[in-house]
Amino acid sequence: MLLRWIPCLALTFQASMVFAGIGYHDVDRAKKCQTPEGADDPVCAYEFISGCTVEGRNYADDVSCPAVRKQGRPFRVIPAPREPQADDARLQDPVFMKELNWVTTQVRSCGCACCHDTSRMKDFAMWDINKPYVWIEQMTKRGVVILSGQLSSTDLGSFPPSDNNGFDRSLTGAPTTDVARFKAFFDAEAERRGITAEDIGKMRPLSNGPTPGMKN
Ligand code: HEC
Repeated sequence: MLLRWIPCLALTFQASMVFAGIGYHDVDRAKKCQTPEGADDPVCAYEFISGCTVEGRNYADDVSCPAVRKQGRPFRVIPAPREPQADDARLQDPVFMKELNWVTTQVRSCGCACCHDTSRMKDFAMWDINKPYVWIEQMTKRGVVILSGQLSSTDLGSFPPSDNNGFDRSLTGAPTTDVARFKAFFDAEAERRGITAEDIGKMRPLSNGPTPGMKN
């Protein structure tokens, strides 16, 4: 009897470590598998806000984004507070553009794409990685430091990379297969915008669920 309980307790412990403080249900964390046309092996991904598919694939092709949109934070169409510009000098910087494209594909492979990417979905909340030019321009200062990992978003949960197609979300806002590279990109943007530690100290961490003061 006791032996039967031990694995059960271990599982409960792990789940509450990863999803501390929020009421996710087991059903929210189902892993979905399918074999893409022409492929030999199935692709499996958590149908969950912080789940990711295989690097380079579009998350919206592998799970149900409408299901992800019903979890945790309610999805609402919210226009971007700032618009990317065609005359942004960074568009001419090949090193910057290579990193921007890499970051874009990383986000596109994960649950964030269900609400922040119009390549498959028809609308988005606040920032859209499918926008032309330098899409990170859409983000507020708070958004930039959440993605860099300087402001907490642990409420969105994270899976061990070994169980999430290699994507880690423990140190950055969006899951990534290369934490140092992803963080460096958004740390540089935070520096460019002159965001100080004092500014960050006054910001509200990203929580899953309705944003205080916003009508959902
Ligand atoms: C179910 C839809 C949904 C998903 C999935 C989702 N978000 Fe969001 N996100 C929103 C909404 C709605 C807002 C705007 C209102 C708010 O902040 O609550 C938002 C806002 C944000 C902001 C603030 C942007 C700014 O400029 O201030 C960040 C950062 C963010 N999301 C990161 C993420 C990351 C990282 C993921 C993936 C791990 C993700 N979101 C997945 C719905 C979603």
